[in-house]
Amino acid sequence: NRKIMIDCDPGQDDAMALMLAASSISNLRIEAITTVAGNVDVDKNTRNALRLCDLLELKDVPVAKGASRPLVREMLIAADIHGKSGLDGTAMPEQPVKQTVRVHGADLIIEKLLASEEAITLVPTGPLTNIAMAIRKEPGIIPKIREIVLMGGGTYGNRTPAAEFNIFADAEAAKIVFESGAPIAMFGLDVTHQARANAETIEEIRAIGNPVATAVSDMLTFYLNAYQGLLGRTSAAIHDPCPVAYLIDPSIFQLEPVHVDVETKGEFTYGMTCVHKGVASDHVNAKFAGKLDPKKFWDLFYRALTTYSS
Ligand code: BDR
Ligand code: CA
Repeated sequence: NRKIMIDCDPGQDDAMALMLAASSISNLRIEAITTVAGNVDVDKNTRNALRLCDLLELKDVPVAKGASRPLVREMLIAADIHGKSGLDGTAMPEQPVKQTVRVHGADLIIEKLLASEEAITLVPTGPLTNIAMAIRKEPGIIPKIREIVLMGGGTYGNRTPAAEFNIFADAEAAKIVFESGAPIAMFGLDVTHQARANAETIEEIRAIGNPVATAVSDMLTFYLNAYQGLLGRTSAAIHDPCPVAYLIDPSIFQLEPVHVDVETKGEFTYGMTCVHKGVASDHVNAKFAGKLDPKKFWDLFYRALTTYSS
């Protein structure tokens, strides 16, 4: 089983990423969950991560609260999509039973990597602040990172025409991560926009009938309504499960070697990921996911949900 650590800002789609990783069809062992300011502030994101651990019965996985703001820029949130709590729309209890461990998220990432004999895969589904902090604080972790399989960026944006939310929310951190030399697999908007949920998806998930499936269909209902209200869309991309789905079944996705630079200076392009395809192999710093097979993706997603007990 591949060891992973999930760094997240849950967030309805982060919640679905956790659900996939924790399901019994997953070949992944979750070593830790760390949280970061992103969709909402870090305290709310942390509370949501703990509530999700209760729901998914992740009793032994340590959860640590991480960065409360980006490295350099001011904080930016996305409560318009995810609701005030960051995870509106579900009937999950407001207060979690599970508690955090009393160590900073970036420190937990460092501790776990240094203590593990085998390299660990990092799965960031929020802004990259904690990962950048960990790399700066202890560069000795880099050889212990098997791969950073992240949701972020793309060849176009959603927060601005140029920038995707996770990268835009802390571009300085993203720059540190992409320049770190650690192997990266990038799941940006080009591919996550192919994982679209609509009203029919919600009904199919609700029909599964177990409490996890019910919570996911409630979250999707809220999420889809937000997209409909804000952008007039009848379907919504569920971004964050993509990197996890890749780790469970890489054959769902097509990736190619690229070089990625992160823009941190542009007046209109701050947070843009400049994806250079077809570069010489010594210039490659990431694998770029461009395509997914929607049928295979949704089959995996539904299968994962059916494994939870009723
Ligand atoms: C990303 O932004 C967040 O709002 C989502 O959770 C996802 O990680 C998509 O741009
Ligand atoms: Ca997220």
